[in-house]
Amino acid sequence: MREFKILGVVLFFTALIYWGVEPFAHSQMHPHVAPADFAFKDLGATSKVGNATKGAENFMSAGCIGCHGVKSQGMEPPMDNAAASVAFGVVPPDLSTAGLIYDKNYLAALIKEPTKALNVEHKFNDTKPHPMIQFFGLGGDIDQEIADIVAYLQSIAPKEIDNKKTYEDACQRCHDMKYDKVFSTSEKDALKAYMGTTPPDLSMMIRAKSKDYLSTFINNPQKQLAGTSMPRVGLNEVHQNKVISYMEKVGDRKKAERDDLGYKLIGFMVLFTLLAYLWKVKIWREVH
Ligand code: HEC
Ligand code: HEC
Repeated sequence: MREFKILGVVLFFTALIYWGVEPFAHSQMHPHVAPADFAFKDLGATSKVGNATKGAENFMSAGCIGCHGVKSQGMEPPMDNAAASVAFGVVPPDLSTAGLIYDKNYLAALIKEPTKALNVEHKFNDTKPHPMIQFFGLGGDIDQEIADIVAYLQSIAPKEIDNKKTYEDACQRCHDMKYDKVFSTSEKDALKAYMGTTPPDLSMMIRAKSKDYLSTFINNPQKQLAGTSMPRVGLNEVHQNKVISYMEKVGDRKKAERDDLGYKLIGFMVLFTLLAYLWKVKIWREVH
């Protein structure tokens, strides 16, 4: 029965390396950071209940469409992508799906104080203002006015969008996804001047950085890359996961196959050892 002992030892070490050492090494190379905070606690929560009908009026008065399009409502963006890149450094995203993909508290905080919500206060200030002008209010209770705008954005948003569309609305103004032939809407030169660096292509990012890294990075880039110019994006958990699934599909088409390989390898070794053993038994029987 020596063969079975050998098999046992081989199996043990294979399993140890596959499920023990590799994940451990991984966790050492990527030290633990606090998990994503989908409540955006640092921004505070509003207790106001929004009214979408009032919000539709506020939205028009607030001047959001001076920079953003809302194509689902027939509002085309005021400038084409080239002109918007020159004016803002980045193409302001279409807001048709904003009420679906962004967290409600995050949206309210963004409207009130963009640099704080986007977490780019280290880059923008009064002398170098952020291109998204903050909402100063319409004369009433500003928090109520904002809650109404958020309710309006939620009311016009579709019920569901797919993974790729989520990526397009949340990331495509800055990042290319070459492997899926998706390119940034902003002009490269303007974007580089605005960000101070060219945002990397995201095609293979899921492999370079891992899913764990991405789940905290997207929620708050400063946690992993202190001082980075990439803004916090403010996606809720469902839609952040959609973006990551899309990145996984583009960059790691072989993931399911690879997960399967560990089991296949062990199955193969069991079978091979068994055959070798039977063969040995047969040879010895013939010899005797
Ligand atoms: C003066 C132009 C301007 C105005 C006015 C403006 N925005 Fe923006 N907005 C921008 C720009 C530019 C960006 C992209 C900034 C970036 O990515 O660095 C942006 C980004 C956004 C985003 C995406 C934020 C994220 O987390 O990725 C949302 C949502 C948004 N704006 C909503 C609004 C709403 C609602 C209003 C009206 C209350 C508004 N904006 C008014 C220029 C503007
Ligand atoms: C306003 C522009 C902008 C938006 C919007 C944006 N990014 Fe970025 N992103 C950047 C910039 C700039 C960098 C380079 C950061 C650096 O090197 O400091 C970057 C870097 C990254 C990196 C590399 C991080 C690393 O550790 O090197 C990842 C991953 C990433 N972005 C994912 C995303 C995803 C996913 C989205 C959408 C949910 C997104 N980004 C939205 C500008 C943006």
